[in-house]
Amino acid sequence: MIKDTYGRELHDLRVSVTDRCNFRCQFCMPENQDYEFYSRSEILTFEEIERIVRVSTKLGVRKVRITGGEPLVRKHIENLIHLLSHVDGLHDISMTTNGFLLSQKAKLLKDAGLKRITVSFHSLKDEVFSKVVGKDVKVSDILKGIETAIDVGFHPVKVNVCVVRGLNDSEVLDIAKFFKSMGVVVRFIEFMDVGNINGWSLERVVSAKDIVNIISKEFDIEPVEKSYRGEVADRYRYKDDGLEFGVISSITQPFCGDCNRLRLTADGKLLTCLFATDGYDIKRLIRSGASDEKLQEFIRGVWQSRKDRYSEERLERIRRGEILRKVEMFKVGG
Ligand code: GTP
Ligand code: 5AD
Ligand code: SF4
Ligand code: SF4
Repeated sequence: MIKDTYGRELHDLRVSVTDRCNFRCQFCMPENQDYEFYSRSEILTFEEIERIVRVSTKLGVRKVRITGGEPLVRKHIENLIHLLSHVDGLHDISMTTNGFLLSQKAKLLKDAGLKRITVSFHSLKDEVFSKVVGKDVKVSDILKGIETAIDVGFHPVKVNVCVVRGLNDSEVLDIAKFFKSMGVVVRFIEFMDVGNINGWSLERVVSAKDIVNIISKEFDIEPVEKSYRGEVADRYRYKDDGLEFGVISSITQPFCGDCNRLRLTADGKLLTCLFATDGYDIKRLIRSGASDEKLQEFIRGVWQSRKDRYSEERLERIRRGEILRKVEMFKVGG
């Protein structure tokens, strides 16, 4: 187990397997912009990813989350899951997906050893959903993906809803009710200033507190203790059926103090924060023939010198008028 400069232990690794996506969500990758994606030779192979994960477990990593872009657009992603399912010491492999290809892929993922799945969801209305994701999408197609995931045995399936004022905030209660009746755990995420191109402003953020208030007007709810140190969501339980929902309050109640996550980009850079401006090139090291011990020392060095606490500093930095060139959300993977 290793600690960073604030004593935070490395525990989770979030692995982005591609920077490409079949959606163009407004708050991540707005339409009508030119994007440059990594070429095939630039992205890590599954074997390289497996090696980095395996070495990381020697340093305390116990959870891996596969992200993107959209992870299901990476060909044969189930083969990576299969490789990771054999890594000693890894307790959890999960994925965050936009759900578009999930009905096709859910069974393959489950059979390959994926343990948990989270689907991003934006609206119960086709028109709003399509507007958010920049593509004509039927809500029923995404719901089919979620239902297939439940049918093949993912339990619980979680849904992430990024709430943006004026976009989908009027649907918070309807979305909460809808998934409550399906037994699906929803987490409402405050709109974050990840990257540089998503039009973020503080006025467009709906606070976690407001979201909880909206739901508590209709349902009897109680807070639930964090299930592990560094858990991102604040959880609540509906008293009538015991189901939970969560809020992720990076803007109004930052949680950097417990942040135990390291991130790996598709092109092989380690990032120590969701809001990082640059990464540490582990691909170069791997491709120059470094031993596992060398890789381990590299990761240890990156973590031990880590000082990030962006969300706690955000408002002060904005007040100072600081301009950062942050890595985009679809390259970090959330
Ligand atoms: P569990 O393992 O189920 O608790 O998942 P998780 O909440 O870590 O995973 P998920 O990817 O669903 O996280 C939800 C969202 O919270 C992410 O997509 C991000 O938008 C946000 N998030 C996750 N980790 C961090 C973090 O370290 N910092 C900030 N600011 N936001 C985060
Ligand atoms: N703020 C908050 N959440 C976001 N997501 C994407 N962009 C943002 C943002 N700017 C969500 C996605 C997905 C996860 C990776 O993060 O909807 O659930
Ligand atoms: Fe794609 Fe996810 Fe970004 Fe939407 S939030 S554009 S689905 S990577
Ligand atoms: Fe961790 Fe950075 Fe998020 Fe803070 S802002 S919780 S340091 S990823």
